[in-house]
Formats: sequence, C-alpha cells, structure tokens
Amino acid sequence: NPLDFSGVWRFRELLPFAPDDKIVTIGEGQTLCQRADAVAAYCGMSPGRLFLQYEGMNPSGSFKDNGMSAAFTHARMTGATRAACASTGNTSASLAAYCAATQLMRGIIFIGSGKISYGKLSQALEHGALTVQIQGDFDDALRRVQEVSRQLGIYLVNSVNPFRLEGQKTIMFRVLEALRWEVPDWVVVPGGNLGNVSAFAKAFFELRELGLIARLPRLAVINAEGAHTAYQLHERLGLRWNGGAFDAAGVSGYYGELDATNRKPDTLASAIEINRPVNLPKALRALDCCNGVVRAVPDAQILDAKAKVGAGGLGCEPASGASVAGLRHLVAEGVIERDASVVCILTGHVLKDSDETVAYHSADPATFEAKLGKRGVKSVSFANR
Ligand code: F0G
Repeated sequence: NPLDFSGVWRFRELLPFAPDDKIVTIGEGQTLCQRADAVAAYCGMSPGRLFLQYEGMNPSGSFKDNGMSAAFTHARMTGATRAACASTGNTSASLAAYCAATQLMRGIIFIGSGKISYGKLSQALEHGALTVQIQGDFDDALRRVQEVSRQLGIYLVNSVNPFRLEGQKTIMFRVLEALRWEVPDWVVVPGGNLGNVSAFAKAFFELRELGLIARLPRLAVINAEGAHTAYQLHERLGLRWNGGAFDAAGVSGYYGELDATNRKPDTLASAIEINRPVNLPKALRALDCCNGVVRAVPDAQILDAKAKVGAGGLGCEPASGASVAGLRHLVAEGVIERDASVVCILTGHVLKDSDETVAYHSADPATFEAKLGKRGVKSVSFANR
C-alpha cells in the first residue's frame, strides 16, 4: 500500500478523518531521530541523552509537509480548487510543492514584504504558486489571507486549519518509534505560530488515552527574543489555559500594547518572526497538558546553536537552532536535568536560509597562497589561519 511509504499516513489509524482513496501523499514524513552527543555536551547534558528529530528530509525541506498532506487530504474531501496561506516561507514552499505535485489546487501565497529567505521564496516560485507580497509582516499577511479566503471561499492551509495539526502529530509518533516507545522526559520545539506544540501535546494526550504510552513528556517552547509573545504571556504574565477560561482580556491587552508602541517582531530566525501566534489558545492548553515551559533566546545564541548542530552533520535553519539554544538555557537554569532524556526538533533544512549561514561563517574561508618552485608547489600558507 503506497500509504505505508508516507511517514504521516502509515499512522493513519491515529488521524482517522479520511477514507484511504482520498489521502494525498507525496512521500512526506521522511525524518530521522539522531543521537547527538556533541550537541548534548554543548547544552551541558550527559552523553546519550539528547536526540535531534530532523525534519529537513521532507519533500519541501521542512516539517510543514507533515501537515500539508493532511490539509490537502481534507481539501480534496471538500472539493476545493484553490488553497492559500500566509507564510514566513516554509508553509508557502510546502503549499507550492503539494500544488505542483498533485495538481489538485491552485496555490496562492501571501508573504510579508522582505520577510522571507530566498531559499524559501525560490521554492514557491519554482513550483509555480501565485505569490503576493503585502505591505507589512507575517501577522498582517495572515490577517489578510484569512479575510480573503473567507470572502472568496479559498481553502486556508495555515495552522489555524485543524487538519494541519493532525498531520503534525505524526512527528511525535516517529520520535516515539525511534525511541522504541520510551517517552522522553522533554520535547523542545521552536515556537512561532504555535502549531507544532499544539499538535505534539494532542498526539501524546491521545496516545495516553489509547493506553499506548503511560505518561506525557514535558514540552519546552522556544521563542526568539525578538518575537517572544508566548514567552511574555506564559512566563512573565503567568497566563494559563485554566480549563478554557484563560484571561482573554490579558491577551488583548498585551496585543493592544504591541500596537500602541508599534512593536514589530524582529529576529534573524525569520521563520518564527511572529508576534501574534494564531494557535495561542491551543498552545496554552498544550502547555497545561504537558507541564510546559516557554523561553526566549537571543539571535546570537540561536546562530551559535545552529552552527553546533551543523558541525555534527545535520544542517538546520535558524528557527530550528532556537530549540537547541533554548535547551542550553533550560539546562543552565536547572529546569532540565543534565541526565534527562530530551528530543529537540529541527524543523527545517540548512539550505532554507543559506544567507544567514554564510554570513555567520564569513570569517571562515581561509585565503590560500601557494608558492611555486621549479618542481611545482613549494609551500602553501593560509593567510588568516
Ligand atoms: N520552524 C520553522 C522552520 C518554521 O518554518 C516555523 C513556522 C516554525 C519553526 C514555527 O512553528 O508555527 O508551529 O510554532 N513557519 C510558518 C511558516 C509560520 O509560514 O512557514 P509553529
């Protein structure tokens, strides 16, 4: 059965909303979960305790494909012919790839002006999606695309779409599979629109309900310091899910303050440059359910952590580096013990944002100088080494 070759749909009994003949797959969910002792040491952890779940091997190079296959499946069930999203780059790359590969829908993408890496933009263009740049940032683009989709009856594939999150649950199924169904103590994930954290908690909650696991891991969500709404609300203002009676006035007060001071999100980790996470209520419930914490890390630490990951052979993009930088923080704080078992999610491929990577390493390439003698090269020196 071709569905068994999808890392999402081989778990289809655990996301049972579609008949088999409607399921859309382009081979998503190809990931690996790798033990990473050097990164563990960098984070202050004991060897053998840290695993990196690498989502860069998906067809469009990020975790988004897990959710996109589920959204496309549902869209097909509704007979939709057009699909739209706002994006910081990966959702749009994924939408464009699914449109091109399946020819089921026309893709329409809203991006903030100058807010997307060329790697990701090139994917949307290469796959032929209609790409609309709007004035403003991701939060503006998302508001706009929600309005437009509602008015024109276009299928929306942002993570407000609950079917997206069904697909993203399978990231955790594969993590558990790799760990032989031993629940880790912690799962650490970068937080942008907070879809992943919502999906992950739902996955663990359901597995426990089914009796397939005995306990839940704790979740850590890592914001970039320049886009730290979840951190501010959860950790600084103490906002909790509270059975659904969370302090909505407190949330709108916080957003009102952002507007009044015209504070825009600002981080080199452009994938998570988001001030108004659309899944905030779900994420609060997820944090409640899994005894979660939120932290915010500065860009410099994100890039250092990313380079440490790269030095170990798995290249990731800046937003993914945030999870490792956040882990390092939490170990230093003593919130995560050095012997705890931890899984960090690497959400996207290193080639997604090569500009940042080259800039970070710009001092690295050595200047090569060779002195030639009669019989060829006499000596070689590296000027800046
Ligand atoms: N990591 C990467 C590489 C991402 O692209 C995103 C989100 C996140 C982390 C955050 O995940 O939203 O579930 O908390 N990117 C979206 C996009 C917003 O448009 O591609 P989240």
